[in-house]
Amino acid sequence: MKLSRRQFGSAISAAALTTAYGRPGWAQGPLVIKFSHVVANDTPKGKGSLQFKELAEKYTGGKVKVEIYQNSTLYKDKEEIEALQLGAVQLLAPSTAKFAPLGAKEFEALDLPFLFNSDEQYAKVLGGDVGKYLFAKLEAKGITGLGFWDNGFHMITANKAVVVPADLQGLKVRISGSKVADQYFRKLGAIPQILAFSEVYQSMQTGVVDAGENTASNILTQKFYEVQKHITIARHAHLQYAVVANSKFWGSLPPDIKAPLDKAMTEANDYTNGIARQENIDALAEMKKTGKNEFHVLDEAQRKVWRDAMAPTYTWAESRVGKEVIDILQKATASG
Ligand code: LMR
Repeated sequence: MKLSRRQFGSAISAAALTTAYGRPGWAQGPLVIKFSHVVANDTPKGKGSLQFKELAEKYTGGKVKVEIYQNSTLYKDKEEIEALQLGAVQLLAPSTAKFAPLGAKEFEALDLPFLFNSDEQYAKVLGGDVGKYLFAKLEAKGITGLGFWDNGFHMITANKAVVVPADLQGLKVRISGSKVADQYFRKLGAIPQILAFSEVYQSMQTGVVDAGENTASNILTQKFYEVQKHITIARHAHLQYAVVANSKFWGSLPPDIKAPLDKAMTEANDYTNGIARQENIDALAEMKKTGKNEFHVLDEAQRKVWRDAMAPTYTWAESRVGKEVIDILQKATASG
């Protein structure tokens, strides 16, 4: 027979029967951590979360069970962060722009066009003080940053050939919510539309939008390439995620759970950042094999035309994300 709290009597308070991490002391079985994300398992983020699950369960000797919810099966874009704050889910890895609605607008600065020159430079900048600076902005919102996960540079998919900025004139371009992305597309004469990731395929198929920006691994696994004939390798902006936990939850884990989870997370961070580049190269090769698309690879001279056209976004962004973070990023990316 199971005892209710009341049956334990008044000598032992309910609080004493609740462990630091919120489970009733008499609860049987492992601590369940829900990790929600919006992409497919077969992407850098999907694989990273599965890697964390495997390591976390191994290192805690089964005291923790990690449930992965891929492809928006638990929460869609906007709902995710609210669910984390409410404690309905314990771990997330949203694209960094998605923290702006919380008030951590500095994260949107990472969407500035042509900010990073290379994968190596991106990794160095986010792995250093800039990453710490950004995570400090989240802590005040009850969210603890545990790492950044790379997903590489954006491409443009469209229902027509997009090579020069004027090709985007009047096109409805799906964006995920970043106001900075909204601006840089507006500078090219496009009409940005915010849509949840889970709604993009259908919106492209039915013509609600004409174009979008994403990475090869997302374009492949969400099948956007089936409903967008043209793919432009523009590398105009970068997509990265912040792996985050509910601070109350993460901070109150007992040491015998916290230490192995920290170790699992550190290793999952390295793993994910180690595979992201190749995953995207492979995804692009796979799409090319289908023969469904026309690819437009912009050379440096063509990219410069885009860069110049999007450049006014930097001045605009000062009033949105603050000059401080833009200065920090420009300094960090000035060399290399
Ligand atoms: C998007 O909405 O396009 C991306 O943020 C999805 C993702 O998480 O990769």
